[in-house]
Amino acid sequence: NRIRMIGVPLDLGQEQRGVDLGPGALRYAGLSARLTGLGYQVEDIGNLEVPVRDVVTAERQQHYLPSIGKVCETVYQAGRTAVAQGCIPVFMGGDHSLALGSIGGVTHEQPTAVIWVDAHGDFNTPETSPSGNIHGMVLAALLGEGHSELVHLGRPGPKLSGSDVVLIGLRELDPQEKVRLRESSVNVYTMRDIDERGIGAIAREALGKLAHRTRLHLSLDLDGLDPLEVPGVGTTSPGGITYREAQLLMEIIADTKLLCSMDIVEINPILDHGNRTAKIAVELAASAFGEAIM
Ligand code: ARG
Ligand code: MN
Ligand code: MN
Ligand code: MN
Repeated sequence: NRIRMIGVPLDLGQEQRGVDLGPGALRYAGLSARLTGLGYQVEDIGNLEVPVRDVVTAERQQHYLPSIGKVCETVYQAGRTAVAQGCIPVFMGGDHSLALGSIGGVTHEQPTAVIWVDAHGDFNTPETSPSGNIHGMVLAALLGEGHSELVHLGRPGPKLSGSDVVLIGLRELDPQEKVRLRESSVNVYTMRDIDERGIGAIAREALGKLAHRTRLHLSLDLDGLDPLEVPGVGTTSPGGITYREAQLLMEIIADTKLLCSMDIVEINPILDHGNRTAKIAVELAASAFGEAIM
């Protein structure tokens, strides 16, 4: 029953400034105390070292690939170590590119299925990405496609297969990314699916798709939620998961008692109103780790 909080102030995977302040926003919103209150032994190991973008300007044309690779190597080792020591790592981003390291690390010893909550597919390769931003390529790289520095990070080869992943909340894909995702074996639940069938049915079906695994990782990109409720994200997309829907999804995940690790990413306090986004992220993390209304 140990949770290890790991701050990753990484903002190099995308262009907006401010997402590096996410770990502080989550601490200020009381993540540690909240999880302690649920009966966990919580340890915050501080932030991993991440280069400041003003210092690595020479990497700009490469979209900071070398630095992102280096940071994700340290994230990988932190995740691997946490799992080996029997801790549940909670990675506080930072942008979504950190998931290369976190998911790589937590799958080092044992396979782990991934619930990826996001407005986006993050399924671009360097060839299909209109932006070149690495946070939009993470899931593809975890499945073995894209920059070889990312694909072979931590250990050689893909870290997941498509059937180990469910994507929930999807509503915005780049044209070639859409083709790639359709042709993949990733399980996808779009906003249309949620609207038509309800988040409860979707959550249960999604977990059913992952029933071949006994360990779950939750990668929570806050832009999966509706920007009206969580304005503090860089790549907003209207018509997202509501707070209430997200709560139910977290509670249904908690019921499995299989949650072994989590990413909380893309919170941008500079774009936020009164730290609302981090506060909501804390509410959701508490539910995912077992907080119930009664
Ligand atoms: N598809 C867009 C891109 O490749 C947006 C990606 C947004 N990803 C994220 N992790 N918020 O640039
Ligand atoms: Mn994402
Ligand atoms: Mn996203
Ligand atoms: Mn470019």
